[in-house]
Amino acid sequence: VSSVGVFDSGVGGLTVVRALLEQVPNESILYLGDTARVPYGNKSAATVTRYAENAARFLLGRGVKMLLIACNTASAYAVDALGASVAVPVLGAVEPGARAAVRASTTGRIGVLGTLGTVRSGAYLRAIDRAAAELGRSVRIAARPSPLLVPLVEEGWLEGEVPELAARRYLDELHAEAPDLDVLVLGCTHYPLLRPLLQRLADERWGRPVTLVDSAATMVAETDELLGARGLRAAPGAIGELRCALTDEARVDEVGERFLGRTLGAIERVDL
Ligand code: DGL
Repeated sequence: VSSVGVFDSGVGGLTVVRALLEQVPNESILYLGDTARVPYGNKSAATVTRYAENAARFLLGRGVKMLLIACNTASAYAVDALGASVAVPVLGAVEPGARAAVRASTTGRIGVLGTLGTVRSGAYLRAIDRAAAELGRSVRIAARPSPLLVPLVEEGWLEGEVPELAARRYLDELHAEAPDLDVLVLGCTHYPLLRPLLQRLADERWGRPVTLVDSAATMVAETDELLGARGLRAAPGAIGELRCALTDEARVDEVGERFLGRTLGAIERVDL
């Protein structure tokens, strides 16, 4: 049975796997985490694109029926190149998140937090503009890199003084630029784990409820639609299996579980 291939720079993409297991439990998943080379967030476009191509080659070699780029940074830099060069459908994290953000906003003012690479690439700006044009809406976007949030989440520091200070600083910067936003995109695999903290601080900072959008749920809904449209869905009664391949396994038990919400099971160590 052919699997859905999912890849990320590390274990963060397991937030997408978690949503897949919940929403399309009959699909089998082959997850590849490039844990030996994480983080991608601070690396150049050329490096991230090369890494994404390595990951795609590995998953295609295993016969996956579609590629899900669960990493925002890799999606931001490489989704177009991969989509144009491989024979299976490719879905990144940025487009689904952008569409969800436009649908959720009433003021048309949208904020984005992501890694340095994601923000620098301008991918969310372009994708949100495109989604707004499709939906006949007018939007304005403010994007800020918030790189310190990634290591905090990996350490499991999801609440308390240190993550609060870091998050406040990033939100303050965003607020200065966009005091009227009503939607904030969590444009990084790690940020959904900080959702309770970010929700509280954002509501406080903007003085009204801010809608937080993370791409995992929308990505999974779009995956299901795409599989359906191409006739690639698993048989309705099938029981999906999860297999994980990683380029390094240090700390995987501890950190991986934090993202997946359960143990990862057997892990294969691979070189790309
Ligand atoms: N997976 C990355 C992302 O979503 C975050 C971690 C990294 O920098 O590699 O942008």
